[in-house]
Amino acid sequence: MLAFRKMLRAPYRIGMFGLGHVGGALARRLVDDADAIARAANRPILLEAIVVARPQGRVAPAPFMTAEELIARPSLDAVVELVGGLEPAHTYIKNALSAGLEVITANKQVVATQGPALARLGRLRFEASVASAIPIVETLADTLGSDRIRSIISILNGTTNSMLGAIAGGASYAEALADAQRRGLAEADPSADVDAHDPAAKLAILSMLAFRRRVDPSHIERVGIRSLEPAQLAAARQRGFVIKLIAAATMHDDASIEADVRPRLVPDDAAMARVEGAMNAIALDAQYAGSLVLQGPGAGPDAAASAVLADLVRAAKDAPASAGSLLASLAPQPAATVAPLGPKNPYPAAS
Ligand code: HSE
Repeated sequence: MLAFRKMLRAPYRIGMFGLGHVGGALARRLVDDADAIARAANRPILLEAIVVARPQGRVAPAPFMTAEELIARPSLDAVVELVGGLEPAHTYIKNALSAGLEVITANKQVVATQGPALARLGRLRFEASVASAIPIVETLADTLGSDRIRSIISILNGTTNSMLGAIAGGASYAEALADAQRRGLAEADPSADVDAHDPAAKLAILSMLAFRRRVDPSHIERVGIRSLEPAQLAAARQRGFVIKLIAAATMHDDASIEADVRPRLVPDDAAMARVEGAMNAIALDAQYAGSLVLQGPGAGPDAAASAVLADLVRAAKDAPASAGSLLASLAPQPAATVAPLGPKNPYPAAS
């Protein structure tokens, strides 16, 4: 132990915006797994301060302070943004980067809409913004950075995937949503999940990293799951299909992009049909690496905290922020025109 401690660099000091499901899970990991984290980062990671909207009466593992106090705190190396939504999260991230702090965020709305501009201000890391525990963000930007990704077919929203399974099993829409909320899967405003804003934002991030073109999530056609009836799910089952909310994107040889998010009929013997509950899956067609499938927990406090910690360890080790650098390089581009993939491919539309 002494030899291990001697090897360590000075602690990496962080502040955190938000102490909800994911923030709570991250704070627990930082305490419970402190030794393993210090070993991975070659230095302890210390949570010094937390910002929440209403601190009165709350118990926390570090003192509460205002956003301004936290950003001005001279000892900090980085902040973690886990508030979600566009504002005030975007302002927190912008101010922290401008103050010279690294920022680690799980915020897909901010990264999808403002990521390229923000990443020009400083080191921005966002592994947790897409598919939680699945290590896809740095994989696309770094590991596969010299390949050419031709298409993405994915399930990127754990809430709706979990709801579709529960409704097919006999639960009502309201019961299925309440269960996803209880498990900490759903967004604060669950319309982000059921109306597919959340997977559209994630698909925009993946498309930017995979295709190296700036993609505005509002240009991605979205069809959510709100209008799906239990009878449609049952009828699909009888015909040998499972209805899944599929987020898909293709870049053609002329660099044009097609992408959309919609419920689709997936044959029940396809691997994508067996992605259950809060799991996500991402199938990539890469010119040189070939067909790759990454699957794992795509939502939930521990899964998201795991991805935030991956970024924190990289930050503490001063590893490159490859995905952030890639987004920064896209900032001068106009947003690409994105046509919908339409009702036939990659699977038939379900509605
Ligand atoms: N609400 C999101 C989901 C959380 O269900 O996938 C993870 O991004």
